[in-house]
Amino acid sequence: MSKIFISCALPYANGPCHLGHFRSTYLPADIYARYNRMIGNDVLMVCATDEHGTPIAVKADKENKKPIEISKRYHDMIMDDIESMNVTFDNFTRTTDEKHYEIAQNFFLNLYNKELIYKKNITQLYCENCNKFLPDRYVKGICPICKNEARGDHCEKCGIALEPTELEDPKCLTCDSTPILKETFQYFFKLSDFEDDIKEYIENNKNLPDNVRNYASNWINEGLNDWVLTRDMNWGIPVPLDEAKGKVIYVWGEALLGYISSAAQWSDKTDISWKDYWNDYVVHFIGKDIIYHHSIFWPGLLKGYGCKMPDNIYAGEFLSLEGEKMSTSKNWVIWISDFVKNFEPDLLRFYLTINAPLNKDTDFSWKDFQRRINNDLADVIGNLLHRTFTFTNKFFDGKIPPYLNPSDEDLEFEGIIRKLPDTVGEHISNFEFREGLVEIFRVCKIANKYFNDQEPWKAIKEDSQKASNTLYLSNQLAKTLAIVLKPYLPTKAGEIVEIMNLTTPNQWKDAKAYLPEGYQINKPKPLFKKIDDDIIEVQIEKLKQNLKYNCEENKMTDLITIDDFETLDIRIGQIKEAEKIEKSDKLLKLQVDIGDELRQIVAGLAQYYTPEELINRKVAVVVNLQPVKLFGTLSEGMILATDESAALLSPDECEIGERIR
Ligand code: 2FM
Ligand code: ZN
Repeated sequence: MSKIFISCALPYANGPCHLGHFRSTYLPADIYARYNRMIGNDVLMVCATDEHGTPIAVKADKENKKPIEISKRYHDMIMDDIESMNVTFDNFTRTTDEKHYEIAQNFFLNLYNKELIYKKNITQLYCENCNKFLPDRYVKGICPICKNEARGDHCEKCGIALEPTELEDPKCLTCDSTPILKETFQYFFKLSDFEDDIKEYIENNKNLPDNVRNYASNWINEGLNDWVLTRDMNWGIPVPLDEAKGKVIYVWGEALLGYISSAAQWSDKTDISWKDYWNDYVVHFIGKDIIYHHSIFWPGLLKGYGCKMPDNIYAGEFLSLEGEKMSTSKNWVIWISDFVKNFEPDLLRFYLTINAPLNKDTDFSWKDFQRRINNDLADVIGNLLHRTFTFTNKFFDGKIPPYLNPSDEDLEFEGIIRKLPDTVGEHISNFEFREGLVEIFRVCKIANKYFNDQEPWKAIKEDSQKASNTLYLSNQLAKTLAIVLKPYLPTKAGEIVEIMNLTTPNQWKDAKAYLPEGYQINKPKPLFKKIDDDIIEVQIEKLKQNLKYNCEENKMTDLITIDDFETLDIRIGQIKEAEKIEKSDKLLKLQVDIGDELRQIVAGLAQYYTPEELINRKVAVVVNLQPVKLFGTLSEGMILATDESAALLSPDECEIGERIR
């Protein structure tokens, strides 16, 4: 038996959970945890709400409330969301809990005493009107890369991580005045000291999935900078040093410790050591946007402290909604609490698993959801179970009939049933959650065909042993399903257990033990209902209304006129020279041939391409942008690339200087 420490990324307590959170993190973690418990492993699964940081403080300011009131409100909502989806945490705490403060401050002191945290003077934005420094989201301004409005830590439009001092035309979010630059000191974590350890961890840890390893290797090859681990603000965990009044630990410097403080709180309650779980096998389930923090920063912190690094990091990719990126600010989102008002949680667990392999971005669409539930879940799995139970009651008085002189078809089908638990189990162990469910589905399809071919409704009159064998095997499969479906659809699996009077449905190995002849089952009840069109139409309409309302609220419009478009002068260019810009790890200085001249353009491509990779690439260039200076370097244009991955539009067959319209 192994002990397994499972954690889910801590949700920020500044909003409830939506489908994206559930899909990337809680659902796969819960499938994995449930399965491991069923095979007899000892699982400790923990989480907490992440309650510090500027977004919560800013929200509190806006609502004229204390940050703790905001975080409590969302903590409670998140707990309800998680419970409603039947996610089985052993402990779920808060980063505002006393235990967490104690653990985070001790951790900080431990690193400080080892001189892995050092003090350094830096210049930061300061609002003279509010008399405070403006870390992260306390400041808004213009993104130096894409020129859209951005927050101090991140530009939502171009996805780039920013320092507040990089923003153009910065403004205090509270009072809208222009901040000044002011010297202060902060504490830095010597992440750079651990470059070799982290590199070795990433390269030699065979468990890490490809997406995590690839991202992490890219970053590490760029070299690691030390991390600013503190902020000048009130909301957060105070830096435990007398000389550091008014400073708190940066939210990312303590939130990760929520894994440990949640486990430690569980240990206090149960008197069982969480460390045994950590030292055996640790797996973090996270969304892909925080791979850096978990694969680089967290292993560095743990190494510094002297604690084992995680054995595995599972990073779920994103979920879009009706083909568009989810956006909480535009309300283009489905909240868990809304979903469960209308549908059973297992339907979502089914759809998000079967439709969405974890290693690929996928889409939630209401129509596709309906199709999957009606055609796959109800018609295939539901129908199989229903007719098995109905026929057993009708023809055999609800008793498992005898299995005698099996035909070739019977034997073949029996072999398929016997293999199912091992195949599904292996997939789940390998984090191939979708594949496990697809296998269950595949076997149910075979089972329906077998049932149709055997025609037990006819055979009962002509060859009752044939009907008896069909129902014997179909019941054995139903029993197997009650067990193998449990990690995926716990409520529905429980309903099968009830119909079949099963006594040990929590043990995976029991899936292989057959029910004896004469075993009594109960009357059937429909397990999966089909979803009507009008129910789905209501959901689609609701989503559209949300968006419309939000657009009106924000005076946004998605449409531009042809004249607006005509103002853009986009041309084919060819990159002739490329070089890094000193002190910026994001920007490259490019010389681009746009036909009649060589243009200097500063582009935020350094994290995606080496200068050499860009030479001679043909690209689309906006040539009539107002010139700006970035890091003291003049930029006269913009290279077009995609939002997320900075993929360049490379029109290789076009002539240099051609206009795009
Ligand atoms: O990105 C997030 O959602 C953060 N709240 C994660 C915090 S730390 C850890 F738990 F991932
Ligand atoms: Zn201000």
